[in-house]
Amino acid sequence: MNKLRSQEWFGRQDKMGFLYRSWLKNQGWPHDLFEGRPVIGICNTWSELTPCNAHFRELAEFVKRGVWEAGGFPLEFPVMSLGETQLRPTAMLFRNLASMDVEESIRGNPMDGVVLLMGCDKTTPSLLMGAASCDLPTIGVSGGPMLSGKFHGCDLGSGTGVWQMSERVSSGEMPLAEFFEAESCMHRSSGHCMTMGTASTMANMVEALGMSLPGNAAIPAVDARRRTLAQMSGRRIVQMVRDDLRMSHILTREAFENAIRANAALGGSTNAVIHLIALAGRVSMPLTLDDFDRLGSELPCLVNLQPSGQYLMEDFFYAGGLPAVLRELGEAGALCRDALTVNGKAIWQNVAQAPCWNRDVIHQFNDPFKANAGIAVLRGNLAPDGAVIKPSAASPRLLQHCGRAVVFDSIEDFHAGINDDALDIDESCVMVLKNCGPRGFPGMAEVGNMPLPPKLLRRGVADMVRISDARMSGTAYGTVVLHISPEAAAGGPLALVRSGDKVVLDVAQRMIRLEVDDATLAARRTQWSPPPLPTRGWERLYVEHVQQAHLGADLDFLVGHSGAHVARDSH
Ligand code: FES
Repeated sequence: MNKLRSQEWFGRQDKMGFLYRSWLKNQGWPHDLFEGRPVIGICNTWSELTPCNAHFRELAEFVKRGVWEAGGFPLEFPVMSLGETQLRPTAMLFRNLASMDVEESIRGNPMDGVVLLMGCDKTTPSLLMGAASCDLPTIGVSGGPMLSGKFHGCDLGSGTGVWQMSERVSSGEMPLAEFFEAESCMHRSSGHCMTMGTASTMANMVEALGMSLPGNAAIPAVDARRRTLAQMSGRRIVQMVRDDLRMSHILTREAFENAIRANAALGGSTNAVIHLIALAGRVSMPLTLDDFDRLGSELPCLVNLQPSGQYLMEDFFYAGGLPAVLRELGEAGALCRDALTVNGKAIWQNVAQAPCWNRDVIHQFNDPFKANAGIAVLRGNLAPDGAVIKPSAASPRLLQHCGRAVVFDSIEDFHAGINDDALDIDESCVMVLKNCGPRGFPGMAEVGNMPLPPKLLRRGVADMVRISDARMSGTAYGTVVLHISPEAAAGGPLALVRSGDKVVLDVAQRMIRLEVDDATLAARRTQWSPPPLPTRGWERLYVEHVQQAHLGADLDFLVGHSGAHVARDSH
């Protein structure tokens, strides 16, 4: 084993060694713990304000068990926790900030390896990104999904059920009292959203990247096997330190390709596009929107989970989870079989014999749930740098459509106008939302799946084409074009769209076009000016440095990595 990094602190026989050891000893640690045990940092996003991660203090104890068993020395530390449902104006505004917290906490402290405890949407990419910029041996442990929601005898999925029921309230089909009754039935255990939303998608990405032990993504948070996995991860990270198996050895081109393909097969969230590109940037791996289209768009969706399908993560776990999906991909030649994973084995070794117990939940590659369902990347004069759509969650009849634009200049403008029955809109229109991108919102909120006008919902209209520079919740659905880049607030062509313009969507041709001539657009541009900068603080720094969606919306100065070495002592 190489000399332990932590010995640069604890192995010193001088004044600084005294300082580094003595203050920690106030917790009762015996002296021999400082004499060459791998120190494992447990990076914990526990917070009572992040309900999806509220069980993480207990989970951390199981990681510690494993670390102790393997001869390591576990030290748990907190980082900024991002609760998707509570944090205003959007948790995404703080993903990069949290990643800075993670990066500097790891680099500045005496640890040899890291266990990342992740759950709610943004906690997974922020921890992966921060850790990747340090590149120590690192293993991911997800918190696991909640048990299935149950309401009036039926399953009720996180997020997806909210969008569905609120549309039924708007159309007059569901009494408001019944809607609020469902509130206590949707989220009834520890864990993160149990649809194939962003949290479940990202937990699957962790596993598909090889960054967790097999089976990490699907075990419910309250299942005893989640604790077992945490303990086994604690054992494993100690050996990873001994083997110097670092994050950059796992996050290879092949790993990202496997993640992209897995996301397609899962019907995963469009948010994975942004997070994977940002993570790839931290390991200097060129990954582009085109990689998602090239590798994933023609793949079938194999998994029948909400919001694209019917079931929930608990069913996915019982059906075999991600290993069963990866086996299907591998047998179809759509998996880089040799990609290394944190257990030291190639991914194919981990999944080649994975069983599937329910073919209604996890379909076979040659009998898919939906064909050609991966994320498609659109381009055209409306999105010169790209936009994305998730065909598996869209209405097939709308994937080729031409309609009259109904434009909302901001989310406030949308809320002020959408409920007005006098709004000039019908089901053939294209709803356009501006100024909700990385700079415009700021933080690129999940508002792209604009609710339909109540007057159309009452007439039974279930979907319309919606386009924006926003993101949408991974639990949402509809024919929704997202992440238009450049965004309106950065002067992208989206800023120039006006109500009444014709918008053409053709997913098969990968095209989104504004039917307005160049001279008219140039004239409109002379009347456009960027929104004012935030006056101070994090928002100011963010808006000045955030990159556009097609680059992953990381801050420009955070792209890349600096390793873990710190030359100077603290005193
Ligand atoms: Fe945390 Fe959905 S709100 S995962």
